[in-house]
Amino acid sequence: MRQPLIAGNWKMNGSQESVTALLNGVKAGMGDVAKAEVAVCVPAIHIPLVQDLLKDSAVTWGGEDLSVHDSGAYTGEISASMLNDFACKYVLVGHSERRAYHNEDDEVVAEKFEVAINAGLIPVLCIGETLEEREQGITEEVVVRQIEAVITRVGIDTLGKGVIAYEPVWAIGTGKTATPEMAQEAHATIRTRVAKSDATVADKIQILYGGSMNASNAAELLAQADIDGGLIGGASLKAEDFLAIALAAN
Ligand code: 13P
Repeated sequence: MRQPLIAGNWKMNGSQESVTALLNGVKAGMGDVAKAEVAVCVPAIHIPLVQDLLKDSAVTWGGEDLSVHDSGAYTGEISASMLNDFACKYVLVGHSERRAYHNEDDEVVAEKFEVAINAGLIPVLCIGETLEEREQGITEEVVVRQIEAVITRVGIDTLGKGVIAYEPVWAIGTGKTATPEMAQEAHATIRTRVAKSDATVADKIQILYGGSMNASNAAELLAQADIDGGLIGGASLKAEDFLAIALAAN
């Protein structure tokens, strides 16, 4: 059985004051969360505060990105060892906003995945098609290509140490959610591709859905056979909404 994972991606949001209020709210509601692991991936500058607030709770935390380098003259970057220093469990790699605004291609994303694994972090590999690609009917081709770039670099066993997040780009921050059927179809495509390399890894790997997931659509999405949790943007910024999604996994 795959444990559901409900992970927040705060993106570039939050002040010390709002982060404290949000996480105190999440912690207060965790007693009702029976099944899911709850995690937050947060802006690097907030990680020390988040660690302090969450260290005695069941909520885990991580970064939103990492450098392929471990240290040195890379102004503005954050390394895997820095994330480790603050006890991060997860790190997002290849989020579509990184791919789109920072020109991260499949090869860079695969390298980041490898660097994260080597440091003992769990990478959450984000994949998904743009609206244009969906309209062209190449969704399957795109997600398979994105997965294969990682398998080619690190091998199937190492892929299996990470988490996959299917995030159709057209559903991110738009309020347009993939229907449960559309999401399930994409998740099944991804799991089938993993199974082609290794059936055991395919059976075990968590595949999260991301893209306008919220308190009202979470239960239906999470009920799909191949959806093992969510990567939540906007709705992870309100304790009540984020907890409602975690409860939908019960
Ligand atoms: P929204 O939930 O705001 O659509 O964002 C999804 C996302 O990008 C999570 O990584």
